[in-house]
Amino acid sequence: MYILLMGPPGAGKGTQAERLIREYGIPQISTGDMFRAAVKSGTPLGKEAKSYMDKGALVPDSVTVGIVKERLAQEDCKDGWILDGFPRTTAQAASLDSILHEMGISLTAVLGINANREDLVKRVSGRLVCRKCSASFHRDFRPPKQQGVCDNCGGELYQRADDNEKTIRSRLAVYDEQTKPLIDYYKMSGCYVDIDGDQSMDEVFSDIKGSLAKAKK
Ligand code: AP5
Ligand code: MG
Ligand code: ZN
Repeated sequence: MYILLMGPPGAGKGTQAERLIREYGIPQISTGDMFRAAVKSGTPLGKEAKSYMDKGALVPDSVTVGIVKERLAQEDCKDGWILDGFPRTTAQAASLDSILHEMGISLTAVLGINANREDLVKRVSGRLVCRKCSASFHRDFRPPKQQGVCDNCGGELYQRADDNEKTIRSRLAVYDEQTKPLIDYYKMSGCYVDIDGDQSMDEVFSDIKGSLAKAKK
């Protein structure tokens, strides 16, 4: 299965990807997680990405497309993947089309998750992320069993540098301007599904599974 997870910051892309990995055994490719790993390692890519991420802006397409192309060519991607947070611009979508064409792959579904604006801000500002496995928790909506510790792997939980209210508002504006137009692009391809992200995490996942079951037929 080849799945795109789209949606604004806080919609639940990472949360649902975690469940999809468990359910279908395919890897999640999150460009945000890849950039955060590069920032942590202090590589030149990380240094470049950080300057954009801290402002809530997008990392340039040339850089982003390159890392995705390399990642999709790896062995664990041969039976499917979940792309989380890519593509985010029309240029990225066009590049993905040619990468998929070259690989002889067609998308199973494009899942567009959305939720109420003010709830997105609350979700992102209260989020806690695992340093080891990148799982997302939330102070109120998904509190970890033990404070500061990941339920899945025991890793330390931290707050992302871009999860402050000012940067969240910029990220939402960037989403509206650069990424939202892709919904129409994928609607035309016939594999786009709207997912109501205002429901509980379990209800959202159940809708996703239903949509994928239909898409596979
Ligand atoms: P990225 O890491 O992709 O961040 P984002 O798109 O802003 O999305 P988030 O990770 O904030 O939200 P999510 O939908 O994953 O929410 P989650 O499931 O964690 O990108 C970060 C930056 O990297 C970008 O700003 C950019 O600079 C750069 N970048 C990345 N990709 C790029 C690209 N393709 N091109 C250029 N630049 C790129 O959930 C959020 C919180 O809500 C959690 O606490 C969770 O527990 C809670 N929650 C989830 N679902 C529910 C629910 N149903 N009910 C209640 N709470 C919920
Ligand atoms: Mg995420
Ligand atoms: Zn963890």
